[in-house]
Amino acid sequence: MYHQHLKPFPQDFLWSASTSAYQVEGAWNEDGKGPSVIDTKPADELPEGTADYTVTADHYHHVEEDVALMAEMGFRAYRFSIAWTRIIPDGDGEENPAGIAFYHRLIDALLEHGIEPIVTMFHFDTPAALDAKGGWAARSTADAFVRYAEVLFREYGHKVKYWLTINEQNMMILHGRKLGIINALTDDPEKELYQVNHTMFLAQAKAMILLHQMHPQAKIGPAPNISYVYPASSKPEDVIAADNYNAVRNWLYLDLAARGEYNSTAWAYLEEKGIAPQIEVGDMAIMKAAKPDFIAFNYYNTTTMADAPFGGGASERSEEADQQISEGEEGYFKAVSNPNLGMTQFGWEIDPVGMRMTYRAIWDRYHLPLIVTENGLGAFDELTEDGHVHDDYRIDYLRQHLEQTQEAITDGVQILGYSPWSAIDLVSTHQGIAKRYGFIYVNRTDDDLKDLARYRKDSFYWYQQLIRTGELPPKDWTPSY
Ligand code: BG6
Repeated sequence: MYHQHLKPFPQDFLWSASTSAYQVEGAWNEDGKGPSVIDTKPADELPEGTADYTVTADHYHHVEEDVALMAEMGFRAYRFSIAWTRIIPDGDGEENPAGIAFYHRLIDALLEHGIEPIVTMFHFDTPAALDAKGGWAARSTADAFVRYAEVLFREYGHKVKYWLTINEQNMMILHGRKLGIINALTDDPEKELYQVNHTMFLAQAKAMILLHQMHPQAKIGPAPNISYVYPASSKPEDVIAADNYNAVRNWLYLDLAARGEYNSTAWAYLEEKGIAPQIEVGDMAIMKAAKPDFIAFNYYNTTTMADAPFGGGASERSEEADQQISEGEEGYFKAVSNPNLGMTQFGWEIDPVGMRMTYRAIWDRYHLPLIVTENGLGAFDELTEDGHVHDDYRIDYLRQHLEQTQEAITDGVQILGYSPWSAIDLVSTHQGIAKRYGFIYVNRTDDDLKDLARYRKDSFYWYQQLIRTGELPPKDWTPSY
């Protein structure tokens, strides 16, 4: 549909940006924080040449300065995650007052600047002590999560209106081992992963119910990574393969969160492989009772799948597979490249129009308001001698995705906000800090902490103008410093 006139972004649109605790805070062992699975990962398991997570952007020690920069950009909201191990160092024992105080300080600073906090309760950093006791495969971890949720809602529930339960649960299940955030402990790792998945669904559902009981005015939703899946061609077998992967990658997660039920195609896949989780009496009633207020999702690109008969291969790029480079599976779906799309410097396809399609597909299925909680370009940025970063490639990426967001709004999709990755440079999941996403440059490299000074990139000024005017700056926009 070629709209003649695009609807404007809503007046109260949540212009935001995102980070996660372990990637931005640093101070990994300060003020009583306990270790998470990120901190206990052996150094030789970190991808070669990449920074570890001990210091990252050192946001823990730069909170006021960073929030002031976000306010200068005009943020209406800021999405960050809380580190479970700052609040309860071993995951299910004593609370840590210093950790609790840190997030009060951050939230208060945001509110003083009129910035709405959007809080992710859990972003990949499972407490190491819980992991040692079986991690998410153990139902006791769901109980520990609910207790942690209760502490969060008690402390911050009167200040925070928007809550996100679990970041990218689907990526933890599909790529968690590669990202080093989920270890399978048994000799049937795939079955264990889908048991982990079920425990996480249960934890999420209980947290949603609890928030609504404790703070009926607050809102909560899931935050998976959703990539619409295209068929490689109009061949019917390719279409079925794409539908299979849409079910396994996307709808499994959203059907559970929004409808409280297992997607039937995904369930057939799990049964077929003998890896369906054990569901206990009462679990599905809890899932049904939990009602999200919105759907948050992270979008980087689409995925393309082809027919995958046994013996015909499963992936073109299985060695590189990660959150955005899919792995296929013989008998179900074969991951192929999409020749119509360009790529980032890190090999992720770029598909702004696919974002419009993704909005529409989610809206059509669930009719819940949407918030984009990640979208962005990882690139090698260069700090010039006079302290600038000319990241016109990032501006271009964001502009194209926001154009498609406006198309989707005009299509009739209800979109509450846009929170790209990332507010400030941070350490990527497996490609170090050389892969930068921020509006704010942090002066360090993977092997040299330098002075960690903050610099405004060109995209900082671009986003500032966009938020101030509520309109996309013209294509020939240039910054005036
Ligand atoms: C998402 C994660 O998968 O993508 C973030 O929620 C992550 O934690 C982001 O940083 C970008 O991915 P990467 O691998 O480039 O850091």
